[in-house]
Amino acid sequence: MRRIGLPACLAVPFALAMAGCNLPGRPEPGPEVPRPEAVMSFDKLYGENCAGCHGANGQGGAAIALANPEYQALIDDQTMRDIIANGEKGTLMPGFSIHAGGELTDAQIDALMKEMRARWRKPDAFGGDTPPPYKATHAGDAAKGQQVYAAACASCHGESAQKPGKDGSILDGSLLAIINEQTVRSIVIAGRPDIGQPDWRNHIKGRALTDDEISNVTAWLMSQRSATPGQPYPNTAPNSEKPGEPQPQAGAKQ
Ligand code: HEC
Ligand code: HEC
Repeated sequence: MRRIGLPACLAVPFALAMAGCNLPGRPEPGPEVPRPEAVMSFDKLYGENCAGCHGANGQGGAAIALANPEYQALIDDQTMRDIIANGEKGTLMPGFSIHAGGELTDAQIDALMKEMRARWRKPDAFGGDTPPPYKATHAGDAAKGQQVYAAACASCHGESAQKPGKDGSILDGSLLAIINEQTVRSIVIAGRPDIGQPDWRNHIKGRALTDDEISNVTAWLMSQRSATPGQPYPNTAPNSEKPGEPQPQAGAKQ
């Protein structure tokens, strides 16, 4: 590719140039700058659209690790495509499809899906075990979920937002405000090997969490959502603040 500071088309005979040359002053990108919808390179598509939240190589970001073979095995193509195209309600996951107000064409979403699967899906990701289904089959029972939290989460995440555990609190209102029941479920089942969150088999010593337990604990976590995210006390009503009181550090991990 010639890089001489002028569009390459100006250097070829006039008759040929007429076909594809951008005349000066026209707003179109030059011939060496692909239009956004023409970008098909995975590294570019992923790097520019996903890496900021899901990590440079699909791990280590604030949002769920995509480069986790267990996660890739858990979620089917149709569900994943739908989330990328339309976003995930109740979280910071935006919709990327042009139809949903985003900037990616269907072909670009296909290209992303295909390459994520090729790079990050592995056969037998669960080593012969069968995980609970990606989607909950019925609504969870929040009261029972509190007991599941105590048995399966509190040892690492602490007993309350005010008493975070060694791995930070997941009861902090700011965190709960940007995740939903499904994304907690995905993280509990597939784990996040990149940051040390265990998969569903490794929360309680000696046995895996059941489908029911996962539905219950996610229901309970969502019941702890705050009407006033950003404030450290999940159940504080907006008008009961006491100005001037020292604000404890929120223990959330993002
Ligand atoms: C602004 C931040 C942000 C960007 C950019 C972003 N995501 Fe997300 N994504 C999230 C959050 C937050 C969630 C939900 C919480 C979680 O899963 O950690 C999520 C969830 C997802 C999920 C569903 C997880 C589940 O529970 O099944 C998929 C799949 C996904 N993102 C793929 C992508 C892809 C592919 C891109 C790039 C095209 C992308 N995301 C860009 C923030 C982002
Ligand atoms: C063995 C310790 C351990 C147990 C048990 C555990 N976690 Fe975690 N979890 C972690 C670690 C480590 C992280 C990463 C924290 C960080 O980012 O520094 C994490 C992160 C998370 C996150 C992601 C927070 C974010 O940044 O988006 C969620 C959600 C979560 N855990 C939910 C749960 C739930 C629900 C349970 C119980 C069913 C649970 N965890 C049990 C260790 C644990």
